Amino acid sequence: MSQLKILVLHGPNLNLLGRREPEVYGSMTLESIEKLLLEEAKRLQVSISCLQSNHEGVLVDSIHEAIDKYQGILINPGAYTHTSVAIRDAFAAAMIPVVEVHLSNIYQREEFRHHSYIAPVAIGQISGFGADSYVLGLQALVNYLQR
Ligand code: DQA
Repeated sequence: MSQLKILVLHGPNLNLLGRREPEVYGSMTLESIEKLLLEEAKRLQVSISCLQSNHEGVLVDSIHEAIDKYQGILINPGAYTHTSVAIRDAFAAAMIPVVEVHLSNIYQREEFRHHSYIAPVAIGQISGFGADSYVLGLQALVNYLQR
């Protein structure tokens, strides 16, 4: 069987990880999180490609472009989690299994972060484990796809 290909998407402001509210999001940079993910992907024998964007349309386009190219998507939609019907609809249209991850526990935070537009179209959500949320999310997605 050929290697599973996973697309990792990071939403707005996640390019500033490391300096962005470290008391909430930790001190790891996006680059070091991606390094962790690459190591885990190697261990799981899957291939990953990563993309960060601050623009909703770029994220929507990248979900469309993933059709027939990627078997799964791991996404931290950032603030678009709580606002984006467009990203949710893109997942519903693409029908590619998706796992939603968050560094912080969104349910312990402000009320407006308690609702996710993405969760209903995702296989599942992992929230609150810092950089480990990404690693756990990748493991869960790969387990799901290999089942
Ligand atoms: C986040 C949580 C969101 O509420 C926030 O807007 C982010 C990051 C997280 O990883 O904890 O940008 O997705």
